[in-house]
Amino acid sequence: MSKRIKRIGILTGGGDCPGLNAVIRGVTKPAHDYGLKVFGILDGFEGLVEGRATELYNKDVSGILATGGTILGSSNKGDPFHWPEENGGKIKILDRSKDAMRNYEAWALDAVIAIGGDGTMHISKLLSDMGMNIVGVPKTIDNDIEATDLTFGHDSAVFVVSEALDRLHTTASSHHRVMVIEVMGRYAGWIALNGGLAGGADIILIPELPFDWNVVYDRVLQRNISGKRFSIVCVAEGAKPKDGGIITKGKDIKRTDPVQLGGIGEFVAKKISKNTGLETRTTVLGHLQRGGSPTPYDRILSTKFGTNAIQLAIKKQFGRMVALKGSEIKSVRIIDAISRQKLVKPKDQAVLAAHAVGVSFGTEKL
Ligand code: F6P
Repeated sequence: MSKRIKRIGILTGGGDCPGLNAVIRGVTKPAHDYGLKVFGILDGFEGLVEGRATELYNKDVSGILATGGTILGSSNKGDPFHWPEENGGKIKILDRSKDAMRNYEAWALDAVIAIGGDGTMHISKLLSDMGMNIVGVPKTIDNDIEATDLTFGHDSAVFVVSEALDRLHTTASSHHRVMVIEVMGRYAGWIALNGGLAGGADIILIPELPFDWNVVYDRVLQRNISGKRFSIVCVAEGAKPKDGGIITKGKDIKRTDPVQLGGIGEFVAKKISKNTGLETRTTVLGHLQRGGSPTPYDRILSTKFGTNAIQLAIKKQFGRMVALKGSEIKSVRIIDAISRQKLVKPKDQAVLAAHAVGVSFGTEKL
């Protein structure tokens, strides 16, 4: 009989989102019941490279189910294979994966549960190729990880968008304005699509369906003519017009993904105002979508993900990620989760449903 695992590490990588603490709790409590020691690695892979970890006891994870953020800290700058080191004002990129392996061995860990998005899963795959035993848990408000029907955190972000749209509706209708709201999601339109659908947006613009300016102008004008003297436009930060590209705020080479998206909301609002004569306003929801308490759905999904992840580790099913398939939690190979990004398909049921109730995607045809 092969040896039972005894010591596991757990880390949260990349941008935070609601539900991280619920996963940490979902891993730690059953791990202790099974007699394992659990070590919280601090600030994602940064802590693994720099040797920062702390033992987690049940008291540490008690009462955190409903809290936002992560008790372990997170970072999107700690990629061991792409480690930014500042020297005399210059940034050099180093490979510090051997330091990560060294700490893993020094702490005598039998496995690491890595909770994160596509960046975290890419790093996990490379570390697992070097011999680290890893189990992945798919997190991101963006919902852009392949091989799982849903990532935890997405539902909470959609809730924030939907509530914001409810609030924008009343002020838009009082002032007969076009309200443009920019939401996150990087290169995927899931937050704009699901949030826009839940919040009754009139126009939803997503990266997967490059839009036509004239279709957007026509829709807001038509609404005015028909007596609806306001419009709500929900724009994904990665959305782009047919005749243009994605709008970015800048680059930060220290990050796992250096491109910082943002600005399309204001651009769309200005163009609508100029070309229709209607008054517009812009709201950028930003990090409000990542903060605060997880929705009940995310608390449940995170707890299921965490408790299933520790089971995978106990069964030594390494190099795998827990995944939602239909209504069941299964596991997939991490490599299958990172083979490509999960993007909105033009014939996705949510797109078709939105279209059927009159939402425009800024295109003549779907
Ligand atoms: O991936 C999650 C996400 O919130 C994206 O939707 C967004 O583009 C990005 O992270 C923002 O990153 P940061 O918190 O580094 O500004």
